[in-house]
Amino acid sequence: MSECIIREISDGVLNLRMARAEKKNALTFAMYDALSDALLGADENRAVRAITITGSEDSFTSGNDLQDFLKGAPEGRESPAFRFVRTIANVSKPIVAGVNGLAVGVGVTMLLHCDLVYAAAGATFQVPFVNLGLITEAASSLLLPRLVGHQRAAELLLLGERIDAATAREFGLVNAVVPAADLAGLVRDKALALAAKPAGSVRLIKGLLKRPAAGVPERMQEEAAIFQEQLRSPEAREAMTAFMERRKPDFARFP
Ligand code: COA
Repeated sequence: MSECIIREISDGVLNLRMARAEKKNALTFAMYDALSDALLGADENRAVRAITITGSEDSFTSGNDLQDFLKGAPEGRESPAFRFVRTIANVSKPIVAGVNGLAVGVGVTMLLHCDLVYAAAGATFQVPFVNLGLITEAASSLLLPRLVGHQRAAELLLLGERIDAATAREFGLVNAVVPAADLAGLVRDKALALAAKPAGSVRLIKGLLKRPAAGVPERMQEEAAIFQEQLRSPEAREAMTAFMERRKPDFARFP
């Protein structure tokens, strides 16, 4: 278990808090595994009736740790990132996300698998896979255009543009935007409200709501295969090395 994922269960609610503030909560392999294990455990645990996912300080998460991306997935194992998105997509209990600041990459795509999403007024959302020479994941190439429409999805996925909380609300990515000081309370209240509902009905309705998302596992697999290949591409290596070296990447060299 990574100490950068804090797990707390109280009043039927499991809170998963990403806590690696000095790296803007960039998700390492260990953090993905801790999140996946906690979600799987919650689905089995009768004491958990709702789940919340939150960040710390100024970040929800800056996405995949780019050092880990450069290292590649652990030998002979499924990528912890892909295991995480597959796991969160299949959780039967309701998930409430509280986006307190930066949400980048998987910090945005995981929201497509949450049930309720609340954001602090200063939160920002960006899916910059394209800037890294990568492609979409978490079936976001399917779910994002379905949620926000093709042109807005293109703004986010092809241009990699960052949007603010109000725009994310307008796009339908988040349920509500509140002052930062009110976010934790709101997320907790909504999770407590869910925990107080009949668990069987909640599970069945969530299952039905997710049913139109047929095609998600297939899309995740297709994306994962292309993603892994692209991760080894010269343009992705250039993008990530440039980030680490704090310089602008040069993509002009690649056809
Ligand atoms: N992976 C690894 N380290 C990361 C990281 C990531 N995804 N995001 C931030 N960090 C690290 C930085 O390297 C820096 O480390 P250092 O203090 O040891 O130098 C620290 O976190 C703070 O980040 P910094 O870039 O100084 O903060 P900022 O407020 O200026 O910018 C971001 C924040 C998130 C906009 C910027 O860090 C960024 O673009 N990160 C990469 C995001 C990304 O591409 N994620 C993958 C998506 S698929």
